[in-house]
Amino acid sequence: MTHSCLTIILAAGEGTRMKSSLPKVLHPVAGLAMVGHVIHTVKEAGGNKSVVIVGAGASEVKTAVANIDPDASIAIQRDRLGTAHAVLAARHWLEQSFDDLLILYGDVPLIKAKTLKNMRQQLRDGADIVVLGFKTSEPSGYGRMLIEDGQLTAIREDKDASDEEKSITYCNSGIMAFRNSIALSILQNIENNNSQSEYYLTDAVEVGCNAGLNIKAMEVDEDEVLGVNDRVQLAEVEEIWQQRKRRDLMVGGVSMTAPDTVILAYDTSFGRDCLVEPNVVFANGVSIGDNVAIRSFSYLESAIVGEGCIVGPYARLRPDTVLKANAKVGNFCEIKKSVVGEGAKVNHFAYIGDANVGDDTNIGAGTITCNYDGINKHQTNIGNNVFVGSNSSLVAPVNIGDNAIVAAGSVVTKDIPADALGIGRGKQVNKDNLASKIRDRNVAAKKARQSK
Ligand code: UD1
Ligand code: MG
Repeated sequence: MTHSCLTIILAAGEGTRMKSSLPKVLHPVAGLAMVGHVIHTVKEAGGNKSVVIVGAGASEVKTAVANIDPDASIAIQRDRLGTAHAVLAARHWLEQSFDDLLILYGDVPLIKAKTLKNMRQQLRDGADIVVLGFKTSEPSGYGRMLIEDGQLTAIREDKDASDEEKSITYCNSGIMAFRNSIALSILQNIENNNSQSEYYLTDAVEVGCNAGLNIKAMEVDEDEVLGVNDRVQLAEVEEIWQQRKRRDLMVGGVSMTAPDTVILAYDTSFGRDCLVEPNVVFANGVSIGDNVAIRSFSYLESAIVGEGCIVGPYARLRPDTVLKANAKVGNFCEIKKSVVGEGAKVNHFAYIGDANVGDDTNIGAGTITCNYDGINKHQTNIGNNVFVGSNSSLVAPVNIGDNAIVAAGSVVTKDIPADALGIGRGKQVNKDNLASKIRDRNVAAKKARQSK
């Protein structure tokens, strides 16, 4: 039998130290809002319902959460009276018949699904409450885990701790799991007689202990429960996330020459036997097939790269790019909203936008699709096995048929039929001996000037 799981994600903090008009939990890590990472991880751990607690007027968070997970709900905590009070803002959901309750934080995005699964397993094994703790050399500011005879008996907030308690280095991450059927009554029994007059979620431990409940502490690595309060911590979390993702990809069969210089997005995906050279950025929405090489200094965003493709060095794939199998996009080429056919080549200094490039077509160096007239965008369709000579401007809308050839330096403003040669440039004229005459004249003019 599978057990159902409710997750409450606290996100009502003001995030003052971010110095930002964007709510803290919407700041991205690897291209996804922090709260989005938490929501995804919970799903991976079998969560059925996520409820995000936000402060008054957090409509931005509401919209973002709806985009990330249409099944998630928002609950509003109007006054910030403490973490237990925040959880109670989701009372409606606590009253439903979920088996497990997880409490997570919108600004603690590195938590792993495996850890949440382990916490839920502890509930299966008889725990009523599971608290996730970590050991740190800098415990100041955190709630301390008070352990008696191997048993967690209370969590003491830093502001309420004695000097002796402050020396404890085992700290509360804030993340907890409850057997949901007991959660509401425990939360309602928490009082606010402490130095901050707040309803502390952490007091669930003491209340639960007094009620004879089975309370377990579980330890994880400090990295996994890092919270983000400012942009320095945001960058630290980003770096840890990137390291994890690079490692996962390499374990999954992707080679990276200099992994530390490769930036990935939360949804970057690869087939087998790919190579990523140094200094490549993957923005959101990139999916790479088997046997692809991404050469140095390339930037890819919302692009599908088919098997056997070679991209870069110095290539830019912009949104809605599709490279079919064995296509090549070389140095200083930009592709936007275009399909590049199987085995097609766009190898040097080209811009291909709003275009279809057929199979086995060669786009010469310096070719530009003139897709924009200053007001509207227009389409360019290039057939299969076409040869576009260097430095051609294809003025859209325009169609070039299969097997056509475009003469180098053409400005193509009319359709070119299949199998035709299109030339759109001034005709070349050679004037015999004129070069030496011009040179003689220029030399004479220079001498006349110097003798003045
Ligand atoms: C909390 C824990 C502490 C733990 C630490 C880990 C409590 C009482 N203390 O302390 O034991 O070591 O986290 O970082 O739980 N929030 C709301 N509404 C509120 C109050 C808080 O949504 O009324 C949210 C905040 O946005 C924040 C989180 O809960 O994301 C933690 O609140 P914060 O006030 O930062 O608690 P800490 O003092 O850090
Ligand atoms: Mg805090």
